[in-house]
Amino acid sequence: MDFHSVIVASLLVGLAAPLCSLVPQAEARAFFVFGDSLVDNGNNNYLATSARADSYPYGIDYPSHRATGRFSNGFNIPDLISQAIGEESTLPYLSPELTGQRLLNGANFASAGVGVLNDTGIQFLNIIRIFKQLEYFQQYQQRVSALIGEEQTQQLVNRALVLITLGGNDFVNNYYLIPFSARSRQFSLPDYVRYVISEYKKILMRVYELGARRVLVTGTGPLGCVPAELALHSVNGECAIELQRAAALFNPQLAQTINELNSEIGSDVFVAANTNRMTMDFVSNPQAYGTLNMVN
Ligand SMILES: *[C@@H]1O[C@H](CO)[C@@H](O)[C@H](O)[C@H]1NC(C)=O
Repeated sequence: MDFHSVIVASLLVGLAAPLCSLVPQAEARAFFVFGDSLVDNGNNNYLATSARADSYPYGIDYPSHRATGRFSNGFNIPDLISQAIGEESTLPYLSPELTGQRLLNGANFASAGVGVLNDTGIQFLNIIRIFKQLEYFQQYQQRVSALIGEEQTQQLVNRALVLITLGGNDFVNNYYLIPFSARSRQFSLPDYVRYVISEYKKILMRVYELGARRVLVTGTGPLGCVPAELALHSVNGECAIELQRAAALFNPQLAQTINELNSEIGSDVFVAANTNRMTMDFVSNPQAYGTLNMVN
C-alpha cells in the first residue's frame, strides 16, 4: 500500500482547490490557523509565558530580520500557505491590528506550547490551550458577523482554508518532559497515543461544528531528531528512539482517524499532511530542495 503518496496527493488537492476557487470570486479566501509553536505567528508575544520567540536569533531570515514571535528563522508554514493562496499572512488573533477589513483575511489562533491535552505545556503557564483557541474562533465569528452579517460570515468560514498542527508537545512537553512523568506512569506509550488521538478527534469534530469545511491536519515530524531533543535524549547523536517511536505510532493513527471523521461526515473535510515524510525528505536529500530550511 502506498500510504505516503495518498497523503501527499490529497494535501496537493487540498492546496490546489483554493487556487481554482479564487479565480471566479472577487473576494479572497480566508485562512485560519490553530495549534502550537510550529504555526504560532506571534500570539504568545501578548501573553505572560516563557514559550516565546520574540528575541534573537528568531527571525534572522525573515524579511525584517527581526524576531516576530514565529518559532522560526524565517517564514513559517502558515506564511508559506498564505503565499501559495495569494494572500497576506494572517495576523495573530491577539494582535491589536486585527480589526475591521483585516478580519476578513482570517486569523491565526495558534499558541506555542499547547497540545491536544489540557495538561500539556502547563510549565509555560499562560498559553492559549486548544479549547480556548476554538472559543476565540467563535468570538471571531461574532465580530465578523457584526461587520458583514451572519450569513456572509458563515460563508466566509465555510469557504476558508484551515490548518491545525498539534500533538508534538503532548510527547515532548508532557509524556517525555521528565523521567517518570505523570502521564508516563499512567499510560504505556501505545495507550497514551490512543488516548491523545481520541481527544484529538473531539477537537477536530469541534472545528467542523464551528463551520470549517477544508482542514489541513499535520502529523508530527521526526520528534526525536529535533535539536533540543537530540541534546536531551540522544545517546550517540542518533535521533532519540522513544520520541521517534511516538511519532511512528501517532501519525498513522491520526491519518486513520481523519479517514473515519470524513466518512462520518460524508465529505472530505479533513486532509492529512504527512509532515514526517516531508521533513525526512528535506533531511535526507537537502540538495533536491535548494537551501535546507528547517523549522523547529
Ligand atoms: C479540556 O478542557 C476543556 C475546557 O476548557 C474541556 O471541555 C475538556 O473536556 C477538557 N478535556 C479533558 C480531556 O479533560
